[in-house]
Amino acid sequence: MADSPYPELKKSHVPERVGRPWTDHKPPPSAPVWAVIGGLGSFHLLVAGLELGVFDALSDRGATPSIPPEVTAAELAKELEVSAPHLESLLDSLAVLGLLERVGGCYGLNDTAARYLTSDGAASMASLVPVAPGPLDNWSHLADTIRAGRPAHPVEDNPADFYRPLVEGTFTTMLRAATRADLKLRYSAMTAPRVLDLGAGGAPWAIAVLKACPEATAVINDLVGVIEVAQRHTAEHGVADRCEFRPGDFHTIDIEAEGYDIVALGHVCRTEGPKGAQHLIERAWEALRPEGRLLLADYFVAPEPQWSPHSALMGMTMMASTTNGFPITAAQTAIWLQDAGFKALRLIEPIGHQYAYTATRPQTQEKQG
Ligand SMILES: C[S@@+](CC[C@H](N)C(=O)[O-])C[C@H]1O[C@@H](n2cnc3c(N)ncnc32)[C@H](O)[C@@H]1O
Repeated sequence: MADSPYPELKKSHVPERVGRPWTDHKPPPSAPVWAVIGGLGSFHLLVAGLELGVFDALSDRGATPSIPPEVTAAELAKELEVSAPHLESLLDSLAVLGLLERVGGCYGLNDTAARYLTSDGAASMASLVPVAPGPLDNWSHLADTIRAGRPAHPVEDNPADFYRPLVEGTFTTMLRAATRADLKLRYSAMTAPRVLDLGAGGAPWAIAVLKACPEATAVINDLVGVIEVAQRHTAEHGVADRCEFRPGDFHTIDIEAEGYDIVALGHVCRTEGPKGAQHLIERAWEALRPEGRLLLADYFVAPEPQWSPHSALMGMTMMASTTNGFPITAAQTAIWLQDAGFKALRLIEPIGHQYAYTATRPQTQEKQG
């Protein structure tokens, strides 16, 4: 069939006509491949910008997004004591990536940089960026990991060194998600809930409930070497006196049966593999009083991974660097929750791209399976 002449849309070679997978007569652009090749450089450009203090220096000079860029590369290079032409290339590349503003040869912060890349930005990711991909060396050996079925140097070899900076970096975002979750869950309406936060990191989930409920108390668990982060953050938020810190492996620490109104499993299941994740869900069930609620936050993969690229790639990051980590799907998680006996499942999105299942342990004790 003849194709339609320009400017009408092509009709002969569209997926609706030829089905999927479909291909075109003309060669495809190589842009997707170049985008991936550029990914490595883009990551290191941002890490270098953060390490050199580019964003903080611009912020200190009053370069807010509302003021037109007015700092030259030479001025900034002098202040940061680095090579001016090299810095200029870095700044230009950061501008190309949409992480800085560049107008007429001058540089400034844009909204993204001001919010996420300055140390005191409202949702700073400055300390998260370098550690977010996990140990970089594991990415260079990904094909070997896929051949062998496990990474040569999983983070479990030295978990505290990996998780400490990670949970420092994710704390602000997670506290925002946990705090906003109250709009959907109304934990603030509870009188004196007792909370169990397993693999708490900086304890954002426990802190959100403790701040909303003046009589709430919490048991906070994480590994030795990481739990100190929770101790510091709970103290900074003025709730440490209502917390008991219980260091150790969340699969084996003592947990009181039916002792809690809320159990949080915040971003811990995707590193555990199916058996480990199910074990944590079962532990949460045992810990909850009837009518108690589980909060299970994670990056859940949609039925088609392309619909949830961030979750699919987060899961891949786990696979690259942990012994059991895999992407976990929303559907599989719901089945685990139901198999454990939970009811009233809801998938909430307290802030953009942060998801959590909530599920209730019902009064009746029947469990399926
Ligand atoms: C991705 S962080 C999530 C932190 C926090 N729950 C949140 O939602 O932001 C995973 C946490 O689980 C902790 N963790 C990993 N394995 C653990 C284990 N076997 N026992 C206890 N905590 C563990 C890590 O130290 C880390 O703090």
